[in-house]
Amino acid sequence: MVYRLLFVCLGNICRSPAAENIMNHLIKEANLEEQIICDSAGTSSYHIGAAPDRRMKSAALSRGIEFRGRARQFDWFDFKQFDLILAMDQENYQNILVLDSQGVYKNKVRLICEFMTQHHEKQILDPYYGGRAGFDKVIDLLLDACGGLLEEIRQNHLYF
Ligand code: 4NP
Repeated sequence: MVYRLLFVCLGNICRSPAAENIMNHLIKEANLEEQIICDSAGTSSYHIGAAPDRRMKSAALSRGIEFRGRARQFDWFDFKQFDLILAMDQENYQNILVLDSQGVYKNKVRLICEFMTQHHEKQILDPYYGGRAGFDKVIDLLLDACGGLLEEIRQNHLYF
């Protein structure tokens, strides 16, 4: 059985593609490519089809993390397609839940910061209008969160 993860932010050009690529990096290291699949999306339509933000890509590459993908918008069908949907901040979280008016998929939607073990931030805030330090911070927080998430999936969702 394959476990499917969807990372969601606002534009799908900075935080959620960083989360997707960091998670893929960790999955590859753990040899779990056949078991866990990742994708990312934005709640907005602002950047549909766009390449990742080059500042985000460069911050990831400087840690040895490959960066791929094109922006797409979150779609209602994603609720069905994915096992876990991970929002970067409270606004993303609320914007996803608004699309699930019956609350059928609420349990699939979580804030990614819940999985951090070394940081205490409650959200991963948008680095778009800031400098390089903000992008580096996003990578630090996501490495922590994705590491915790991988551990949680290994313990509770993979069956060999
Ligand atoms: P992201 O960052 O949600 O992490 O992809 C943003 C990218 C673009 C914009 C906002 C946030 N924007 O307003 O265009």
